[in-house]
Amino acid sequence: MNTILRALQADITSLPVDAIVNAANSSLLGGGGVDGAIHRAAGPDLLRECRLLGGCKTGQAKLTQGHRLPARYIIHTVGPVWHGGADGEPELLASCYRRAIELAAANGVATLAFPGISTGVYGYPVEPAARVAVAAVRSSLRAATGIREVIFCCFSPGDLRIYERVLDESAA
Ligand code: AR6
Repeated sequence: MNTILRALQADITSLPVDAIVNAANSSLLGGGGVDGAIHRAAGPDLLRECRLLGGCKTGQAKLTQGHRLPARYIIHTVGPVWHGGADGEPELLASCYRRAIELAAANGVATLAFPGISTGVYGYPVEPAARVAVAAVRSSLRAATGIREVIFCCFSPGDLRIYERVLDESAA
């Protein structure tokens, strides 16, 4: 299947896709940034479900229902904190994208949206993070996944420009 990869600027909680990805922390019990926005929009039953999951390690991912979101599922992943880039950050970030795609595929997800994992509070610079994200998604999609569309959901116009350029370069 030829999966469409595209970037758009939006609040990820508004997207009518099968699954959105959450940039969570290892407790999976909520926080600020996109995690806070997702918990607010999904409602308190999300936190109840997350309490049963026993947390999540950096680079791994776990799936919940979407509750009050338009999305059917939320895939929670924990990105690395940026310490300068020589501490395994690119590998851990790539693992977040790979594990999220694997979980999405295993649950019949056809349309999936990612935020810029680690690029907010966790401090990962946006351009290198976008390169890791796009490369990891493209390589994960070489396996048969049933995923039709992957959206890189950017919160700012500046992030959107970076993602569009990285996507163009990776397609060439
Ligand atoms: N829709 C799309 N993107 C968003 C939204 C939104 N509603 N809100 C923020 N972003 P961050 P991290 C973007 O800090 O760096 C939390 O407290 C934001 O502009 O949410 O992985 C967790 O609990 C940035 O580009 O996640 C963890 O403790 C991107 O989402 C910690 O933050 C990620 O920023 C995780 O830090």
